Amino acid sequence: MTEPNEGEAMQRTRYAICGLSNRAIYEYALPLLGGREWSAPEEDYSGVGELVAIVDIDQTRVQRFLERTGANVPCYSPDDFDRMVVEQHPDQAIVAGPDFTHARYAVSALEHGLDVIVEKPLAHTASDARAILDAEQRSAGEVTVTHNARYEGAAGRLRDLIRSGAIGTVISVDLVEGVDTYHGASFFRRWNRRRSYSGGLAVTKGCHTIDLINWLLADAPQSVFAHGGLAFYGPESPHRPRDRAGALLGSSDEARLNPYAQRWQTGRVPEDQTLFTGEWQSLGYPAQYPEGEIRGIFDAEIDIEDHYSALIRYTGGATMAYTLCFSMPWEGHRIGITGTHGRIETESIAYRQLPESSEPTTIRVDRLFGPSEVVSVVSEPGGHDAADARIRRDLFLPSPTASGTNAIRATGFQGAIAVATGEAMARSIAERREIVVAELLDLQELPEWES
Ligand SMILES: NC(=O)c1ccc[n+]([C@@H]2O[C@H](COP(=O)([O-])OP(=O)(O)OC[C@H]3O[C@@H](n4cnc5c(N)ncnc54)[C@H](O)[C@@H]3O)[C@@H](O)[C@H]2O)c1
Repeated sequence: MTEPNEGEAMQRTRYAICGLSNRAIYEYALPLLGGREWSAPEEDYSGVGELVAIVDIDQTRVQRFLERTGANVPCYSPDDFDRMVVEQHPDQAIVAGPDFTHARYAVSALEHGLDVIVEKPLAHTASDARAILDAEQRSAGEVTVTHNARYEGAAGRLRDLIRSGAIGTVISVDLVEGVDTYHGASFFRRWNRRRSYSGGLAVTKGCHTIDLINWLLADAPQSVFAHGGLAFYGPESPHRPRDRAGALLGSSDEARLNPYAQRWQTGRVPEDQTLFTGEWQSLGYPAQYPEGEIRGIFDAEIDIEDHYSALIRYTGGATMAYTLCFSMPWEGHRIGITGTHGRIETESIAYRQLPESSEPTTIRVDRLFGPSEVVSVVSEPGGHDAADARIRRDLFLPSPTASGTNAIRATGFQGAIAVATGEAMARSIAERREIVVAELLDLQELPEWES
């Protein structure tokens, strides 16, 4: 168990979780409840933190969770947030429900002067993100966005290399990100498939990578031009099973012959993506996904893109060519960073059908007129290459640098930049023009990146 320092036993930080999501259960609720067989000893934060309330639309789901864990935590409905604060006196709100709910809870918590931890993305739209920033300005509370990609081992090495001047001034980044046919397809069955809930995948998923590159370059995107659309999922999918004459099949035949569904049933499921099989999935979502409602990846209500190619210009002059696709044979990314004095290349690719690779991720540094080097980054067990464990240490332990790294926490403003850049990708596709990121946040220009 993570012990509090001497004299701190009576001062555990009081947390209220808003949205008992799959993410909230693993990342926050279980570590805060701690001391039970489902939480590893080093992941037990019950000595320093206390879960004092859960806010969720789904009382059945929350009760099932409390029964399963034996925890006694008061549960509130969304309209009772203010009453919850008065009755339970939380110090911090953890906002971890679907993206469209983030602004509502973050703003209310800030109005009460609470600190707020918000799951990425900060919000599903730039205007909601701006509302959170405005509330933060008026509040004694502070916003932290859980951009956990910053905490992956390779991210820190890349940042150190760039900061050390190993490749000079960064000129351009080329990045291909793939989300595979198992994980990628899952978004098209869940709430994420509606723009009004997630902002689209460039926001809800792309924000990880956009923020990572912003953080590596210590700079913010100034403008975005993008192409993209829906090519793999939705009613016109080329993978939708049809009969010989091209007519649609009945729902059970369609489900049986759906190649993505076959992948879900046979593919190896990595530890951090037990989307349909994880232990806590059996709690169900009676409110969010009512029983009997069938959600398929070819449904007409899907209104988001499944692939993007964006050209992003940073305020400091660097550019990024970013391709993001949600139906790839592999999961991961290939990144190239070109500087005035050399180039860095790295990749992290997993094929779901193959056994987990034990090969370390390598970062190759080629100097234009100097020696090359290959840096190995050993991957660690745990969610998102141990990034989840590291970010929890930063969030829950008193020291601001608990992870041993400096300037790694994502601020509200940095979270807002990632949201606005993702939204700019979707807007650029729809409006066929370059989008200025600052305008989406209602700013004349972006302030300097805090690093
Ligand atoms: N950092 C990461 O790596 C990571 C990974 C996965 C998800 N996430 C983020 O975590 C959040 C949760 O995603 P998930 O897929 O785990 O969610 P989920 O679908 O598993 O759970 C959503 C929960 O929110 C509840 N809910 C719905 N509407 C609500 C409302 N208005 N008020 C309160 N509760 C409400 C549902 O009942 C359910 O308990 C999202 O913001 C997502 O983007 C982050």
